[in-house]
Amino acid sequence: MAKDNIKGLRPETLAVAFGYDPEMGMGSVKPPIFMTSTFVYPSAQHAKDVHEAYFDGTGPLVGETNHIYSRLGHPGLDFLEKRLAAIDGAEEAVAYSSGMAAHSSIALAYVRPGDSVLHGRPIYGGVDMLYNSIMPQFGSHVAAYTDGTDETDVRKAADEAMAKGSLKLIIAETPANPTAAVVDLDLMVRIADEVGAKQGHRPLVVVDNTLLGPFAQRPIEHGVDLCMTSLTKYCGGHSDLLAGGISGRKELIDHLRMQRTTWGNHLDPYTSWLVLRSLESVAVRTERAMQNARGVAEFLRDHPKVAGVTYLGFLEPGTRPRAVYDRQCKAAGSTFSFHLHGGEAEAFRMLDQLKLLKVAVSLGGSETLICHSASTTHYAVPPAQRLAGGITDGTIRLSVGLEHVDDLIGDLRQALEAV
Ligand SMILES: Cc1ncc(COP(=O)(O)O)c(C=O)c1O
Repeated sequence: MAKDNIKGLRPETLAVAFGYDPEMGMGSVKPPIFMTSTFVYPSAQHAKDVHEAYFDGTGPLVGETNHIYSRLGHPGLDFLEKRLAAIDGAEEAVAYSSGMAAHSSIALAYVRPGDSVLHGRPIYGGVDMLYNSIMPQFGSHVAAYTDGTDETDVRKAADEAMAKGSLKLIIAETPANPTAAVVDLDLMVRIADEVGAKQGHRPLVVVDNTLLGPFAQRPIEHGVDLCMTSLTKYCGGHSDLLAGGISGRKELIDHLRMQRTTWGNHLDPYTSWLVLRSLESVAVRTERAMQNARGVAEFLRDHPKVAGVTYLGFLEPGTRPRAVYDRQCKAAGSTFSFHLHGGEAEAFRMLDQLKLLKVAVSLGGSETLICHSASTTHYAVPPAQRLAGGITDGTIRLSVGLEHVDDLIGDLRQALEAV
């Protein structure tokens, strides 16, 4: 299907129909997997023309699909990136070997010694580590906001970041891992414009859309610059692969794709094929998982051993997070946290009693996964910063899957008896 013909088609349709045409694969309804490291040219001149088009964007082959070597790009990546961009409503997309490869590539592309980065808390532990431990070794600075819906808090943190260095990236993970705290994307774009006016160049707004995925939240429509998704999670959907994607304007994505050539962190042909296939069903999978999540969250909210449940569907009307949620999210997702009365000992006792739910990190798979955030996904985040992000020793994260909801509740009920 040509790009001109997709106008008006909904993301659910594009997820099935766009990116690969049977004529590209000898009529096969599904794409072949091009398991090759390199590509053959009909002549030496053709090889030179391909390289000229790829590296300089000039010459007779500009705009033609010609591959050089799979690290630079391969047909499976073309199919996947076209589909991902279309679903996200972006001009282009680029796919990586993991979500963290995508995040690291953004950092390496846009942050230089002396620059600063602004992000929220909580945020996925790997991203926290990237900007608070690793990038500072290359001379970058960081500041964090704790309430991504509070204009005053975010502006204060942005000023703090600017005082340390030129602010290059504003990062919003929303809803945030693990507490499902929301960040106001319109606010982030406004702050980026303000910062741009003050410092003479506008920082990029980068959104991590992993927790809700492309159907329940559409960051590009809010004017953000880069929409990052760990495709490992809902988009992959089966806990059997690792991948990451970034969507955005052509000039930004072209820059990232060219750098990926050198970093070598592209997505391989087989995993590209797996993700392309999984994108076809992500809308229906997430719909079912979200229904289940509501049932599980309601059960937990009413349980006497549970101190609280941070689930988007329970945001109080009249509050700022609820207003942001109503404006920004189409659904509440299926990853959220609950907080036990007590701490690590109570949490571990409960987790060790589970029979159906699997104690594992990660989220967005077909099976329900559960983990103790402070000792796993956010282990490397210092305790004070964890607490500031709402993660206590009794916080347990759930990624609700596709099992029957009554079986999930039954398992949680019996495990909670051990607390
Ligand atoms: C919100 C979020 N962003 C990024 C990542 C990193 O993705 P990956 O594990 O694919 O590298 C994760 C992983 O759990 C995540 O939860």
